[in-house]
Amino acid sequence: LGNPTVDVRTLKNDLGYFTFDPGFVSTASCKSAITYIDGEQGILLYRGYPIEELAENCSFLEVAYLLIHGDLPNEQELNHFKFEIDDRAVLHESLRVFFDGFHYDAHPMAMMVGVVGSLSAFYHSDLDISDPDNRYICATRMIAKIPAIAAACYRHSIGAPFVYPRVDLDYCENFLNMMFSRPEKRFLEQARSIDETAVKALNLLFILHADHEQNASTSTVRLAGSTGANPYACIAAGIAALWGPAHGGANEAVLSMLKEIGTVERIPEYIAKAKDKDDPFRLMGFGHRVYKNFDPRATIIRQTCHEVLRQSCQPDPLFDLAMALEEYALQDDYFIEKKLYPNVDFYSGIIYKALGIPVDMFTVMFAIARTAGWVAHWLEMTGDTGNVIGRPRQLYVGPSQREVMPLHRR
Ligand code: ACO
Repeated sequence: LGNPTVDVRTLKNDLGYFTFDPGFVSTASCKSAITYIDGEQGILLYRGYPIEELAENCSFLEVAYLLIHGDLPNEQELNHFKFEIDDRAVLHESLRVFFDGFHYDAHPMAMMVGVVGSLSAFYHSDLDISDPDNRYICATRMIAKIPAIAAACYRHSIGAPFVYPRVDLDYCENFLNMMFSRPEKRFLEQARSIDETAVKALNLLFILHADHEQNASTSTVRLAGSTGANPYACIAAGIAALWGPAHGGANEAVLSMLKEIGTVERIPEYIAKAKDKDDPFRLMGFGHRVYKNFDPRATIIRQTCHEVLRQSCQPDPLFDLAMALEEYALQDDYFIEKKLYPNVDFYSGIIYKALGIPVDMFTVMFAIARTAGWVAHWLEMTGDTGNVIGRPRQLYVGPSQREVMPLHRR
């Protein structure tokens, strides 16, 4: 359980002990049956199923169903779930006004926070979350609409018309179609051979990013949810927390670093900087707070990353640089000794770039996938009769009690 500082409260009415645990690194804030992580051994399980097996055998929608229902669907259950998602995927026409209110170069995460938060203004009728049916409708509505909202953010930024979701496409195909479809050429139909790789890679990334127990954004969703706030407000809060560079922004940081390194010849110089204790530079996309031997998600995605790059129709020197950096670091004694392996975000940023996703949409991609986890946690906590309002304490370090002087005497 780590080594939290135990502080004995000294104020008169403040009896007992509490733990001082900045960042809650050693404090379990809830019980959850959704995701299990063993950082030492590199194990990640969703509802008991190893991430490797889910990635190998399932679609993202099957995994989303698993996270919220607790078990994998059979064919009939999956068809019904797909029907529910398709049924709730279309955006209310009045939402267009919200997008129009944003300048074309607004950050897509800013639009995501605003538009998702606004959903509570559109769906008053099922905001009574004491009703389990309403809770389920809200949860599936979020999973259904988030790709359409994300794609609309991108289309707004390039001034292109919004594309409606289609019932004949699966979840990831639909997202790519809503992003890239043009009236004159049907993206998926025209180049299905290339896009099969894109769809497969996206499906995999969405599965790998779907949940990761009590990370900052999920904890934010649970904390907001503990007050009884409506689900759209809770998910908007989660998106806001994900936006931070220390959380959802890591894959974007990998791309910035690659740009800064520039050429394969400069890799040794940057590896030396990463090892230099007087230099704050770190190799982005390497190391992990929880996974200390390897990130199981990185092991899964690595091969797909190489596949996507091999088939990419837009060769980019950054991709060669990324692969050379990976090879170099994996053979370097410092990185081997400190067990600093590429993490999932080293590969996810590169894949997204190869798929033509703009860099400022990378965190949005993460948000689409993580919505499944967020709503699963929200459903778990709102269905839990033992839920209490989240209310962390603090270690007060300010002045002791003093007297207020009237203004003329200060
Ligand atoms: N490059 C160079 N050295 C590193 C790196 C790195 N990326 N990561 C850790 N180290 C070194 C540290 O300097 C430290 O060295 P020391 O023992 O000589 O002091 C040692 O490895 C241990 O590092 P810590 O910072 O204690 O490890 P921690 O678990 O706190 O940090 C973290 C993990 C934040 C992810 C870190 O590895 C890092 O900054 N990585 C780069 C950023 C990144 O890729 N973030 C995304 C994480 S994945 C995700 O969030 C989905």
